[in-house]
Amino acid sequence: MRLNKFISSSGVCSRRKADELIESGKVLVNGVVANVGTQVDERKDKVLVNGQEVKPTSNLLYFKLFKPKGFTCTASDERGRRTIFELVDVKERLFSVGRLDYNTEGLIILTNDGDFAQKLAHPSYEIEKEYIVKIEGKILESELAVLRKGVVIDGERLPRAGVKLVKVEGDRTRLSVVIHEGINHQVRKMFEAIGKDIILLKRVRIGSVKLGGLKRGEYRPLKAEEITALMEGK
Ligand code: URA
Repeated sequence: MRLNKFISSSGVCSRRKADELIESGKVLVNGVVANVGTQVDERKDKVLVNGQEVKPTSNLLYFKLFKPKGFTCTASDERGRRTIFELVDVKERLFSVGRLDYNTEGLIILTNDGDFAQKLAHPSYEIEKEYIVKIEGKILESELAVLRKGVVIDGERLPRAGVKLVKVEGDRTRLSVVIHEGINHQVRKMFEAIGKDIILLKRVRIGSVKLGGLKRGEYRPLKAEEITALMEGK
């Protein structure tokens, strides 16, 4: 088996990242610094990444989690804040597919399949991500048009977005926003650009996978058809 595949199926990182680790001399096979393209025999070769032994798992795991507000999506947080990985009682090391901000809640996908995580999170993948956004006050038709066309920040236009007004609730407004990219803070930037304060930001769908009936902090394995749909970009 190729070394990068061995490492990615050990849940360490994607194959692409594995190649970077190999190129930077951080991977040893039987005590010898490896090259990209090194072949390994998974029954007898000993592979160390950054000094730690890694072994492939045939047990690929895929979950959906309802990330509550007030959790980070990083493996560890330098400010000691809680991370989403504390919510999941699974021995295997998991990655999140993309990230949600600390103050955003909603659907996040977790997996130990490094290639799947990297593929889905890649900007070129363009899978739909749907958010519910609650703002203070009302929104004008002209402001909706600006959001749909793509707001301009510092001379740069953010991508178009699908934006629908769902409901006016007293002095608050609920909207649905569909984006395809994974630009940092994309939805918050959109509303900031039109001077609207977001009170709630919640991701409710990635492709055809919905948050469904999960409660905050709950997770469950993805169904086989959900995994296949995501792999096909649906
Ligand atoms: N857009 C944001 O601004 N924040 C998120 O967490 C996700 C999308």
